[in-house]
Amino acid sequence: MSTRAMQVANIAFLLDRLAADTPPNQQIRELTENALEAIERRHKAGDAAEGIIRWDVDWDNLKRTNQYKLSITDNGDGMTSQQMLDYLNALAVQGANQTQGISQNFGVGAKITALHRNSHGLVYQSWHQGKGSMVKLHRDDKEGVYGLASFDLADGPDWTPRIKDSFKPKSIDQSGTKVTLLGTSENDNTCFPPADAGGGMNWLITYLTGRYFRVPENTKIQVRVLTKDEDAWPSEEPSPSAKTFNFQTVSGSKALFDQYSEAKGTVQLATADAHWWVFADPKEDSKKMSTRGGRTCKVGIVFQDEVYVHLTPPTARRLLAGFGIVFGADHVVIYVEPKKTLDIRADTARSRIIINGEDVQEANWFEIWGAEFREKMPAEIKAKIDEIMAKTERDPDGKTRERILERLQRIRDLLRPTRYRRDPNGSLRASGQTLGGGSEFGDTQRETTSPGGGGHRGGRSSDDYLADLVESGGEAVNAVVVSTKEPAVKWVSRADGTREEGELDDLAAEIVGDTLTGEIVKANRDFRGYRDLVGFFTKEFNPGGDPAINRKIVEYVEEWLEGQLVEAIMTVRNLTNGRTWTPADIDRALSAYSLTTVMMARFHIVERVKRSLSSDLARPSKAA
Ligand SMILES: Nc1ncnc2c1ncn2[C@@H]1O[C@H](COP(=O)(O)OP(=O)(O)OP(=O)(O)O)[C@@H](O)[C@H]1O
Ligand SMILES: [Mg+2]
Repeated sequence: MSTRAMQVANIAFLLDRLAADTPPNQQIRELTENALEAIERRHKAGDAAEGIIRWDVDWDNLKRTNQYKLSITDNGDGMTSQQMLDYLNALAVQGANQTQGISQNFGVGAKITALHRNSHGLVYQSWHQGKGSMVKLHRDDKEGVYGLASFDLADGPDWTPRIKDSFKPKSIDQSGTKVTLLGTSENDNTCFPPADAGGGMNWLITYLTGRYFRVPENTKIQVRVLTKDEDAWPSEEPSPSAKTFNFQTVSGSKALFDQYSEAKGTVQLATADAHWWVFADPKEDSKKMSTRGGRTCKVGIVFQDEVYVHLTPPTARRLLAGFGIVFGADHVVIYVEPKKTLDIRADTARSRIIINGEDVQEANWFEIWGAEFREKMPAEIKAKIDEIMAKTERDPDGKTRERILERLQRIRDLLRPTRYRRDPNGSLRASGQTLGGGSEFGDTQRETTSPGGGGHRGGRSSDDYLADLVESGGEAVNAVVVSTKEPAVKWVSRADGTREEGELDDLAAEIVGDTLTGEIVKANRDFRGYRDLVGFFTKEFNPGGDPAINRKIVEYVEEWLEGQLVEAIMTVRNLTNGRTWTPADIDRALSAYSLTTVMMARFHIVERVKRSLSSDLARPSKAA
């Protein structure tokens, strides 16, 4: 048997399609990565000279064309003219690493990102054993194709002309490569951040520091520092001793966090290393790190020395709560580096991490890692959590809580919902099988709307038929664990530093961590609905502003609100049955928004607080 190989009918379309899936700054990563790999090959071949990668203005190009174009120069192993023809003008080609593979090189990196974004031209100048030649890739708009552009020289056209020695960059000795980004038009200044990426003039530093966790040993990545005002830019390469417009070295996010944190370490988990940092002053430290893309309260994933997932609040705060950091998330950064024993790889665009065929976040890996991290909580992080949580303590002997639980006890029978009952005339229909006598599934009914509109129709619906096709053993599901313990409410505020910036803004309360099992509820003292309530009582009972009375008011208001929150959370959690109330439903029913609704029902609270205050202050109640 023989096979006629499949061909690509329209490479330009495929390339544009692939490029559309990549983030704006990906080309910076791909070109830096190619340079790092070229240096690594040179080092492996026994040449130990320090690797230097420089993102800089192409000063030669500026001299000739008066246009500022961004370039990257490395002193890696370089390419011969033949290698450039082979490697650069073909998609999915096996390059010099000889490592095409699902978790290594794809042979597409620079082409789908840099070439697409520089359709006017991507110029490669490369030196190998001292000899330099160049190619120019571009999009030929007339033909609608990507490919090599010919150089029309005096003695005819050439694809890979030799380069005069005088144009060899200073950082290159015998071998190395310089790539110039011409952008999408003649006068496209590619030194500015791409419009869709945004960012200031430190965009390269920010992006590269954030993207690289560690920079390889004996290798330096440098970036030319430019200012916003293009008119002030130098017209030729500044001397290394110049005070402005010099190079800044990229040291990677690990070094950045190491430098500004007050404590750091790595927790060994079964399937990953969890790198953590604690910061003394999140605001100040974030400000200092911001010019290099750093901040606190961040979660990331490290793979092959690169950071793939960058999560910031509110997502990061929620994940950190899963790691046991229930207070003080603003002080912490955690980067998880999965172990190589996992089946781990990056997607084609290298912006997502796939483990066992599933996206890291979708497959809930953070939950697994978080649970293990909680067990091995570093003492420094624990101390930070305790320090902040201690500030929320207002009921040291547990008297208030005791009263709340005692009240709930009085309506014990109401705390568990009744089960749905079978009713042949009802509009509710059981879904799923009845198991073991059916008592357990009595409450697993779901409302169904029949397409015919009302009434029970004879015969079998197509859903019934489809249900027959389902494996009768049913799908394996995770047992849903609901906490039966009353959650503890902690009152937080910006003033005492227990509520972080952006956390629970204008919302009343939130369960920390998992909605079904979280044991701590943060209630927001800065929330308008709460402040209004306190203000209401202050006006009536404490016009003179007596601090002792004020304490009483706050105490009662909080006690009654707390009771209402605990009751709502307990009872809603108990609705869980896996059918009509799934954990996702509970997530919604107990979201910060829902708990805000709970706190906004105030009539009965007003009555109770008034009564308590009136008797305490031995004053006749004005309550109607
Ligand atoms: N700066 C460079 N120095 C030396 N060789 C280079 C350089 N840039 C690219 N190459 C060669 O060109 C090849 C193609 O690069 P490209 O980025 O398109 O794909 P790749 O690096 O092989 O795979 P990936 O899709 O993982 O990036 C490389 O494998 C390498 O052999
Ligand atoms: Mg590459």
